[in-house]
Amino acid sequence: MATSAPVESVGAPPSIVQIKEAAKEQQIDPYNVSGAKDAQGNVKAIDYEALRQRFNTPALTEEHLRRFQEVTGKPPHRLVRRKLFFSHRDFDKILDYYEKYGFFLLYTGRGPSSGSLHLGHAIPFLFNKELQDVFDVPLVIMLTDDEKFLYTRNKNEGKQTTGGALGDFIGYAYDNCKDIIALGFDKKKTFIYTDYEYMGGHFYQNISEFETLLTNNQIRGALGFDGSTNVGLNAYAAKQCVAAFASSYPAIFGCGDFRAPDYVERRPRKELAAIPCLIPCAIDQEPYFRLLRDNCDRMELPSPKTSLILSKFLTALQGPGGKMSASDPNSAIFMNDTSKQIEKKINKHAFSGGGATREEHERDGGNPDIDVAYTYLSYFLEDDDELAEIEKSYRAGTLSTGELKKKCIAVLQAFVGTFQERRATVTDQIMREFMTVRKLEYKGHANPKVPGGIEAIARDLASNSTKSSKKDKKDAKKTESLPVRSSETGGDDLQKST
Ligand code: TYM
Repeated sequence: MATSAPVESVGAPPSIVQIKEAAKEQQIDPYNVSGAKDAQGNVKAIDYEALRQRFNTPALTEEHLRRFQEVTGKPPHRLVRRKLFFSHRDFDKILDYYEKYGFFLLYTGRGPSSGSLHLGHAIPFLFNKELQDVFDVPLVIMLTDDEKFLYTRNKNEGKQTTGGALGDFIGYAYDNCKDIIALGFDKKKTFIYTDYEYMGGHFYQNISEFETLLTNNQIRGALGFDGSTNVGLNAYAAKQCVAAFASSYPAIFGCGDFRAPDYVERRPRKELAAIPCLIPCAIDQEPYFRLLRDNCDRMELPSPKTSLILSKFLTALQGPGGKMSASDPNSAIFMNDTSKQIEKKINKHAFSGGGATREEHERDGGNPDIDVAYTYLSYFLEDDDELAEIEKSYRAGTLSTGELKKKCIAVLQAFVGTFQERRATVTDQIMREFMTVRKLEYKGHANPKVPGGIEAIARDLASNSTKSSKKDKKDAKKTESLPVRSSETGGDDLQKST
């Protein structure tokens, strides 16, 4: 690991090394999520404000909520109203674009590390479904069977472990795909793929080009890898990044690809590359997309900087210092847990913010801010007034921990129960339909300022081509002159993410 502090520049996001040092071990990246430790070694709650400032991602404000409602005519989802999605990059720009051209690409994903999703994974998917319904836009869901295989092998120092063979991850991806479908996505507007199955054609060309724009040092700096990390995991970052380019999926926009059966267009299409993308996910994935945003405009066919909307983590049952994690079954409620298991896990493991004794609780009140049952209700209970009442009476000590847990259990059992009923109906055939490469059907904005969809973009691109080619050259120069730090570990900082 690096020993020297990286060079600071105004507005620059930190490297993983900086985050570890400055936040006293609060560590958030795609492979680690844990709060800082106090002097006694107890894990503290994740400090999202500190994290947001370290990552240099703006807060999602009331103004964004107002603008969302203005553009879509719909109130924001409870996860946004309650600031559980709390940060973003260029969310305002995607709303402007939607108003202008009437559509964009939604992109999200899952690394299939186990056969069932847990409640935390359901969060970004629920939110993506809401956005798909509200905006009526195409959605791509990437299942990274390759990433999880490479990561697991890396963690086990190259050794094959039970449940960790390459084929196992393909199996998890199919099971996860069915879980995702059961969360209610509209087949007409959704393309789900596994990396091992779909990568090729224009997608793979984008990957190759993006790989040339990333150095090993930049990847190490962003993701905390070092010289002993396997080469596949280093290379994987480019794949997760270019999955945000609409030009990686010509077929979903009704265009032929450079592969069977069309063989029509040898290179990715400029007008598809110009379609912007919004990625809703938890903030652990942000380091990948920092790499993406830094390089969108360096592609031969530039894409707009990808927009992000970022959530907090549904906490582990043990408390707010960690996230629910599939690798620790006691930390998580899985979407295939029975009602009994849910009840037992909440009663036995859910960290309580209540008083130590009944008398103490009634005298001093409880603390919902650190109470896991309350936190879960804030994600899954729809009614704002009911949630506010629960918070008030818990603070006042008139609602006991037992009653709060009972409410939480009932809400989660209802959510998971409904999910399981739908999941039972998702057959292999239905899964295959979602995974079939095909043109997606979406309507987008009813009255965009510039009607005409992709043709309108192509037209605008053609008329702006002289202007933009001058700008491209200038931008390319700016990017090439980025300072690059070479440390002992080879961990460059990303100097420019905004
Ligand atoms: P993965 O499988 O770790 O997580 C899938 C999605 O769930 C989010 N997430 C959570 N959200 C709330 N609370 C939690 N406890 C929690 N744990 C995980 C993650 O942020 C993610 O959105 N490399 C990715 C797969 C991927 C991807 C993407 C994710 C590929 N392309 C684009 C998001 C967007 C992964 O392993 O996710």
